[in-house]
Amino acid sequence: MKVDNKYYQTVWMEGTSIYMIEQNLLPFEFKIFESKNYLQTCDAIKTMIVRGAGGVGVSAGFAMAQASIEASNLSKEKYNNYVYTALKNIQATRPTAQNLFMASDKVYEKSLISSEEAILEAQKIAKEDAWASKKIGEYGNEIIKPNSKIATHCNAGWLAFVDYGTALSPIYKANKEGKNIFVWVDETRPRSQGARLTAWELRNENVPHKIIADNATAHLMSRGEIDLIITGADRIVANGDTANKIGTLEKAIAANYYNIPFYIAAPTSTFDIKTKTGKDIIIEERSEDEILYQKGVNSDNKIEKILVASPGSRAFNPAFDVTPAELITGIITEKGIIKPENISEIF
Ligand code: MRU
Repeated sequence: MKVDNKYYQTVWMEGTSIYMIEQNLLPFEFKIFESKNYLQTCDAIKTMIVRGAGGVGVSAGFAMAQASIEASNLSKEKYNNYVYTALKNIQATRPTAQNLFMASDKVYEKSLISSEEAILEAQKIAKEDAWASKKIGEYGNEIIKPNSKIATHCNAGWLAFVDYGTALSPIYKANKEGKNIFVWVDETRPRSQGARLTAWELRNENVPHKIIADNATAHLMSRGEIDLIITGADRIVANGDTANKIGTLEKAIAANYYNIPFYIAAPTSTFDIKTKTGKDIIIEERSEDEILYQKGVNSDNKIEKILVASPGSRAFNPAFDVTPAELITGIITEKGIIKPENISEIF
């Protein structure tokens, strides 16, 4: 997608470096972060310089490729140990998004052949990520009626993938076709991916939108202000239960009560069909500081971190929740739109 008329992808690899849009600085500053080795890439995933299911997946694949390049002058045994340790380190960065495990496993397998094969595989995963997001936009556009008011949670836009995004990809397509849509953007506390990243993306693409407090969605549903909900996913298991950013579950419950279609948009790389139900999904717990403090810019345009809670109180910060399959109207994938109960048909 374009930023100030220049085309960017969220993450890419050139030579031995990985470049990524520094998402902790957005929307206040637009900067590219260069990661020179696989451990730096692991840190970038942990600290969320790069984030979103596709973003962490592609970065994990690239990190694995970096590790294989770093080890390429070692003896066979030392090379194998190095890439295996790298795989374990990469997979310890964040536990919930399936793409991270899918990509690092695939590139690891190729790294056992050669580092050239590992690089090719990592680049292929990045290309497929962008392609799948584009297709999701085409299929998802079919369910968007003219004049729709659509709600979304967190950021499942191009910043969460290599390009286009998932939940936002159909929205971009519908907007380009002049369907006169409007988007309600949940702010998505504690890290505010909605208020900071989704709103920034939608402004860049001239999509009419407003940011709302996370607890305003049910009220808007009760007043007929939401026609459709589309969110992303971090992991979809065999029975259709879906992990996504914390707060998704309560939107799905409210949507069900008010009979509002609730769609998940995700590529098949986010599906984990080896896991049977959502109960077995590991939910990441992040630092309590993300709840106790907020970051923003002051009047001098400098990014500042301020305490926004009662001093001395502790916080609990689960980063994801699981929406049961029965609350999901459909899943928009690059292969078409499927019902959660029909997942096995596309695998
Ligand atoms: O913690 P994050 O920002 O990496 O969260 C992942 C997400 O971006 C969301 O859960 C999103 O809706 C699904 S991933 C495109």
